[in-house]
Order: sequence, then C-alpha cells, then structure tokens
Amino acid sequence: MSRVAYVNGRYLPHGEASVHIEDRGFQFADGVYEVWSVFGGRLAELKGHMDRLERSLEELRIRRPMTRAALTVVLRETIRRNRIRDGIVYIQVTRGQARRDHAFPSPEVRPGVVVTARAMDFAALEAKASKGVRVITCPDNRWGRCDIKTVGLLPNALAKQAAREAGAYEAWLVDDLGLVTEGSSTNAWIIDAEGRLRTRDTNANILRGITRASLISLAREAGVDLFEQPFSVAEAKAAREAFLTSASAFVTPIVQIDAEKIGNGAPGPVTSRLRALYLEHARRTAA
Ligand code: PDD
Repeated sequence: MSRVAYVNGRYLPHGEASVHIEDRGFQFADGVYEVWSVFGGRLAELKGHMDRLERSLEELRIRRPMTRAALTVVLRETIRRNRIRDGIVYIQVTRGQARRDHAFPSPEVRPGVVVTARAMDFAALEAKASKGVRVITCPDNRWGRCDIKTVGLLPNALAKQAAREAGAYEAWLVDDLGLVTEGSSTNAWIIDAEGRLRTRDTNANILRGITRASLISLAREAGVDLFEQPFSVAEAKAAREAFLTSASAFVTPIVQIDAEKIGNGAPGPVTSRLRALYLEHARRTAA
C-alpha cells in the first residue's frame, strides 16, 4: 500500500510530498509537532495532544493553521488514506514560508502543515516491553524551553544516536545537578528503593508528556504512591523498577541503566501493572 501525506491542503503520495526550501521549519526549526498513537484506526489522547499543540503554537506565536475540528478531520483522513489500524500519526506546524530572515515574516504568512501516518507493529512493541529495554545517561544540553514541543530536536537526536551506538533504546538526560530530566523522546520514571513511584515535576525543563499526565491520574486512582519529584542517576540505578513513557512507547520497562541492572534485570510488577492500565485507558478512550 502506498503511503499518503497531507501537505498544506493536499493529500500527496509520500514520495512526492515536499515543502519549500524557505519553509521556516527547515531554515530555523521554527515549528512544533505532535504525535498521537492510533488504536484500531482511532486517535488515542486526542484532546491532550491537541491542547498541547495549541499551547506550543501560542508560546511561539504561530497562528493556528485551522480550527481544531478541521485539524481532527485531516488527522483522521490521513489515517484513513493510509489504512492505519495500529500506528502513529504525526503533525508538524511551522511558521510558514518566507525569505530567510531570523525575525518573523511581516506581514504574517500562512503556517505550514504536514501530517503523516504510519503503521506500527504493536505485537513487536509488546515483545520489546516484555523483555524491557536499556537506557544510557548523558548530559542534558537542550535549550530552556523544552516544555514547547518544537521540531528543534538536534540534542535529542544526538542523545538517541549515542544510545543506539551503545546498544540501548533510549538516553536519559541529566541536568547540572545530576538529576534526570527526561529521555530524548520519552518521560522518565522510577519506583525508588522505598517503593515510591517518581517522575520529574513539570517545573523542570521537560516536556509535559500526555502519556505522563494520564499515567499520573491512573496511578493515583490505583492507589500507587506517587511523587512528582526529581531523582538522581544514583537513585535511578538503585531503583526497584524503572520505565519510560511516550505516545509511541506507552509504558516501557527499563531493565538496565548504563552498566547497572535494575531490580533483578526483568520488568517489575508495578511497571507491568501500569503498562496494562495505560494501554486499557488509551484503547478505551481512543476517538
Ligand atoms: N516524543 N519527552 C520528550 C522530549 C518527547 O519528545 C516526548 C514525546 C515525550 C513523551 O510525551 P508524550 O507522552 O506526550 O508522547 C517526553 C514523541 C513521541 C516523539 O518525539 O516522537
């Protein structure tokens, strides 16, 4: 089946889909994005990701390209045209196309919108989660506004590549105080040595993950002891369990951090329970 992408009002064959060389996303990383998982053709966490997309746009003063309802139609149509049952859909909105100049175009130009979708093998993800993954740690050298989901992802890409080269799945980023902020494309969690579920608070320079927010509610409902509190690399390595969250990885157990095995080196019981709770929630509320 050939893939189809939405680009500035048109659905195009993937191989022919392109944007102008002076799109500010290309020139300045002047754009934002979102990723939804798709279950049975339906969008998981539709509202959460839409809310964050609008917030990211507002923070950068990029005009909304269309109404939320119209955008939802485009997302669904892209899923439909690509015949996605299980997978992800990606949207990128840039400040648009204009002669290269650092300052915003004046008068304003039309924002650029690209939507793509691709199938994911959920069975393979499940197999990966049942074994758990490894992470490495590296310095967090990103800018100060990681709460905005911009396409400026070079530090994240370099960290992920370092992980790949070390045979790991993810890189956990560590601030100047030795505290874990988040992963290169995921939020970071541990069940500490005292059995408390911990993830970094959102006053820190991190992305406010949509999976993270839902999981916090689910954990609280399930009576899990939860603290939005920083943890050090040393605490993470001494943790009973560790895991990561994102729209495309859901809740994925971590069994090794750098050279240290976590717990007994297999996915832990709390993590497995949270993964099941999250998947049930995401499937049930997909729209
Ligand atoms: N990444 N932290 C960072 C830096 C991220 O890029 C992401 C998402 C997350 C998790 O957020 P959410 O639960 O809303 O997906 C945390 C997406 C999946 C990506 O870049 O592909």
